Amino acid sequence: MSPRKIIFDTDPGIDDAMAILFAHLHPDLDLVGITTVLGNGSIDTTTRNALYIRDRFAIDTPVLRGAASALLVPDEEPPTFVHGDDGLGNVKIDHTDSDPAPGSAAQFIVDTVMASPGEVSIVAVGRLTNLAIALDIEPRIADAVAEVIVMGGALGSNEYTGNVTPVAEANIYGDPHAADMVFTAAWPTVLVGLDVTMTCVMRRPQMQRIRGQSGDAGEFLWDITRFYENYYRERRGVLGFPVHDSCAVIYAVAPELFGTVTGALRVVAEGISRGQTILVPAERTFPPSAWDDQPHSIGCIGVDSDGVLALYEDILRRGA
Ligand code: RIB
Ligand code: CA
Repeated sequence: MSPRKIIFDTDPGIDDAMAILFAHLHPDLDLVGITTVLGNGSIDTTTRNALYIRDRFAIDTPVLRGAASALLVPDEEPPTFVHGDDGLGNVKIDHTDSDPAPGSAAQFIVDTVMASPGEVSIVAVGRLTNLAIALDIEPRIADAVAEVIVMGGALGSNEYTGNVTPVAEANIYGDPHAADMVFTAAWPTVLVGLDVTMTCVMRRPQMQRIRGQSGDAGEFLWDITRFYENYYRERRGVLGFPVHDSCAVIYAVAPELFGTVTGALRVVAEGISRGQTILVPAERTFPPSAWDDQPHSIGCIGVDSDGVLALYEDILRRGA
């Protein structure tokens, strides 16, 4: 079987960098493009980081620059306390002078999906702005895409209901209008949220093994994750760090590692619950509501965390 084509929409970002390398090295995936969005840094920062990772690891794929701001909500300072001032853990990096490919991320998504109907999946691990703009440019991508897998949100199936507010995760909070457009469009969507990503915590001994057995990728990941590990230990009391964005890529190749629920998924766009993701399971009935007659999404509510982390390590080791 030929590898599955994926567009990786991302805001690198330390855990994004981990996921890019996993997607690149997995033999069942064909990374046909990397599209950037603001989030863990400005659009200049996230695009520069994507280009750096692409060039350093000789990933044969275009990088397209995406949205510099959300659809409607105002810009906020990037979370430099999580990912560093440079988005990659403040490691000294000699950036290349590569430029992104011409055109916008959203137009690239449209052109790539429409060129191969039913063959291209999108894995989105930042704000969903590029996907919303792509839907606006060409609504027929909803029929043509194979699957849309999103790292974001939380469904309240465990204690991790939010990371930027008590009810909101960063990627969804950062552009809630775009997120609601994405989950109410008629394409197959999967939400890989904090319910599962917060239990996939890579601890130091495993990161040390990856450093030792995965060549330059292992060294790079060790270096950039020092800052991220420190943030989770000091500010969140977590020993290790969640591999949020890798979980979404891993869903693409090993969905059996996840427990799911299916139903209409809406995003709260404004007010104190801004960014909350609420999925109404298909079997539940309520009086008329904003979830009626909406397309169904798959939401991840359980995960074999050991399986996810072992697969990550295995693919990085085999790629060395
Ligand atoms: O909340 C975690 C998500 O926000 C991850 O995608 C991380 O990279 C940031 O974008
Ligand atoms: Ca991300």
